[in-house]
Amino acid sequence: MALLPILKYPDPRLREAAKPVEKITPEILELVENMAETMYDAPGCGLAANQVGVPLRIFVIDAAAEDEPSDLKIFINPEILELDGVQVWEEGCLSFPGATEEIKRAERVKVKALDRDGKEFTLEADGLLAVAVQHENDHLNGVLMIDKLSALKKRMMSKKVEKAKAEARA
Ligand code: NI
Repeated sequence: MALLPILKYPDPRLREAAKPVEKITPEILELVENMAETMYDAPGCGLAANQVGVPLRIFVIDAAAEDEPSDLKIFINPEILELDGVQVWEEGCLSFPGATEEIKRAERVKVKALDRDGKEFTLEADGLLAVAVQHENDHLNGVLMIDKLSALKKRMMSKKVEKAKAEARA
């Protein structure tokens, strides 16, 4: 297993739409393992493959609370089937270090995807898990949380990320 470098905003690769996985090969499974390890190490509760420079439709999520056992969920070729309700969550993103913002999303989501065995599953989620599914699915379409902010908040968020990146280099 290996930790993968996470692309940071405004890397243009974060804007590319990811392509479907055609076959779940050992290389894909290794990528999924490495993505999970990278997410836990960061730490974060979700990571999309194009955040580590692989433009494929895969994301991993663990939305378990700190006092709960870990709950890794793997989504390959996900497709959102239903969105319902409204919630606002203070979101972060591993591609936006040092910045969080309140983002409005659907309260409930129904999503289908393939698991690591290539078996299709359907998941209905609310709360943080629903937020994470929507956030990570956006990544696969080249959409980032900053896109959902006002012009003023976009500038503020961009500045925070530049500051965090400069501090990480120092
Ligand atoms: Ni993100």
